[in-house]
Amino acid sequence: MVKKRLANGEPCAKCLQAEQMLKTRGLWDRIDDVVWADELDPNSDGMLLGKKHGVDVAPFFIVEGDDGEERIYESSLKFVKKELAAPVSPSTSKEAPSTEDLAAVAEHFAERDPAEIVRWGLERYGDLCTIAFSGAEDVVLVDMASKTGLPFSVLSLDTGRLHPKTYRFLEKVRKHYGIEIEFVYPQAQLVQDLVRKKGLYSFYEDGHTECCSIRKVEPLRRALQQYDAWMTGQRHDQSPATRSDLVVVEKDDTHEGKSGALSKLNPLAFWSSDQVWQYIRENDVPFNDLHERGYKSIGCEPCTRATLPGEHERAGRWWWEEATKRECGLHTG
Ligand code: ADX
Ligand code: SF4
Repeated sequence: MVKKRLANGEPCAKCLQAEQMLKTRGLWDRIDDVVWADELDPNSDGMLLGKKHGVDVAPFFIVEGDDGEERIYESSLKFVKKELAAPVSPSTSKEAPSTEDLAAVAEHFAERDPAEIVRWGLERYGDLCTIAFSGAEDVVLVDMASKTGLPFSVLSLDTGRLHPKTYRFLEKVRKHYGIEIEFVYPQAQLVQDLVRKKGLYSFYEDGHTECCSIRKVEPLRRALQQYDAWMTGQRHDQSPATRSDLVVVEKDDTHEGKSGALSKLNPLAFWSSDQVWQYIRENDVPFNDLHERGYKSIGCEPCTRATLPGEHERAGRWWWEEATKRECGLHTG
């Protein structure tokens, strides 16, 4: 790795960020050597390497192949993906597990450490398992997946109505873990038709179902067709009315996957909000700024508000509707 040292003696911020990302993903010990490019010294080793390879950005990575050829990467993400990520998706050669198999797995893992369930999912399905990341405290799944060193996928449903702080946070997570996030968008025509007919805030009058089905439910259904399994951050304590029966691994009867059957993993099902936050603090996991402003559960900006002390976290979602209806349909079909 060639790192740049600035005139003030400090390493450049991008180099530090790349180093942090490699450490977070447990890949730092795969770097054989760090060579410094001193901004003030054109003859420093790193500057000479930059000149030799025609690179004027930092950091950059040099990989020597078995044939002696050198491959150069100016993007840390590309470097990780091409050179360090495990090459084969373990899922491709395996048959879809039956409902019974999944029930047995769920029983085995019930109330076990969520990190074990995440690992099982990635060993079983590889990058054909995608983490549905909402930009809230479900970031712990990304952290746990990252720590396995196994390949995995992440998708986020960009409804077009997320909070600006959530967009910032999604970008922060992308960079922090050096991952690709597949942003999934609603169909433009459906959104246009809805907004033309009913305006931008129809959900306050008609309820959220119509808008959620266009901006979230249909895009998720479409996206999941590329995968064999998906992982969610759902927990029992988020909604005693609708999530109390949640199991850690199940067959998804609502969606179809790449080869038909789709498995659904809810590794955090048995964790409380406190356990999630303990994990975030102990592992220095980045979190959405909104959590510091009283937001416990985070969804789209117009449909989420901060909660008052003592209020249940779901009270801040679609608060103008009946408490029992506070599901957007992603998990209820
Ligand atoms: S919702 O059904 O009410 O919107 P909630 O916000 O509780 O769901 O989130 C539960 C889980 O659903 C999240 O941990 C995540 O796995 C998935 N999810 C919710 N919203 C999104 C989103 N915008 N993008 C990706 N996944 C999401
Ligand atoms: Fe639309 Fe609100 Fe549902 Fe987001 S949460 S998709 S803005 S109704």
